[in-house]
Amino acid sequence: MHIQTAAVQTLRHHEFGAVVPPVHLASTYELDPGSEDGAYAYQRGSNPTRAQLETVLATLDGAAHGFAFASGMAATAASLSTLEVGDEVLLPASVYGGTYRFVDQVLPGRGVTGRFVDDLGALTDEDFTPATRAVFMETPANPTLRITDLRRLTELAHRHGAIVIVDNTFMTPVLQRPLELGADVVVQSATKYLAGHSDLLAGAITTDDERLAEAFALAQKAQGGVLSPGDSFRLIQGIKTLPLRLERQQENARAIVEHLRAHDDIATVRYPGSHSEEEARIHASQATGSGAVLSFELAPGLDRVAFVRALRYPGYAVSLGGVESLICRPATMTHEAMTPTARENAGISDELLRLAVGIEDIGDLLEDLDQALRAAH
Ligand SMILES: Cc1ncc(COP(=O)(O)O)c(C=O)c1O
Repeated sequence: MHIQTAAVQTLRHHEFGAVVPPVHLASTYELDPGSEDGAYAYQRGSNPTRAQLETVLATLDGAAHGFAFASGMAATAASLSTLEVGDEVLLPASVYGGTYRFVDQVLPGRGVTGRFVDDLGALTDEDFTPATRAVFMETPANPTLRITDLRRLTELAHRHGAIVIVDNTFMTPVLQRPLELGADVVVQSATKYLAGHSDLLAGAITTDDERLAEAFALAQKAQGGVLSPGDSFRLIQGIKTLPLRLERQQENARAIVEHLRAHDDIATVRYPGSHSEEEARIHASQATGSGAVLSFELAPGLDRVAFVRALRYPGYAVSLGGVESLICRPATMTHEAMTPTARENAGISDELLRLAVGIEDIGDLLEDLDQALRAAH
């Protein structure tokens, strides 16, 4: 089944012939007084609407298990919940700022160390110790759009008994399916492309591993950061147009990348594969597209604030994946939790702007960027 068909047709045959699933709001369920059994008992543990969403999430990633959380960060935290006192997780220094904050400020209190490395692609056997139990990564990285070889890193980590968790928010299962490349866990901020309309906070985890699946179900039940039935329904509906939206967003992003690369007012443009031919080759071997996020710096002497202020369409806001274009300054908005040195090592300058491209008309977007660049002089 093609992914666009799966996004629409995974859930079928609802009560009364309804073509969309029902929303089951009950927080608790009556049980058989004798056996005390029932299909559902209490919403935090499981819920029919959330279960339907979790079936869709698993289907899209080709996974055995899917889990829906109340935010991407709740999913990220749950994905690291198997780590115990003395364990270590390896991450790229440019990992999403919220993940950096969690690993830097919360995990140490649980006796777990996060070791940030500048370039995951340069890891070798010597970088792993008996304490290294997990590698958490994003490819492309945010907002540098650097690429990591998923197959190579997975083989390396598995040789040392570490699991690989991939934050696939930027790619979604439409463009990249890390479990098929050997990763153990996929995390997504479903707030972004899966929901697609900047009106819903949600997180997703998928895995084929039974032991990890048990741990994630426990995280749902024991920590309680689950997605509500109403939001689960809205996410089911959002996912139905995910492949369509992303196709248009990616088409727009490619046109903007080409336009900015040829523009005298632009100093650098970053897009998956732009760093080197090697990264372009790796990305092409593990993903079917480059997505709809790019980052760039204006030419020296241009006024960044005047440029952003003059933009008519992209709103100056964090987040990405919605139908509307958004622009932000990672150094102060999404990656402010990192130290200035960590940002510098990761290649996130104070001038770097990240553009998350929406589904607007490309002619309007290009015209808008051009007039804002003129205003920046
Ligand atoms: C790559 C990535 N991962 C995780 C998150 C966290 O997701 P949420 O905001 O849904 O908690 C974000 C949010 O911006 C993100 O961009």
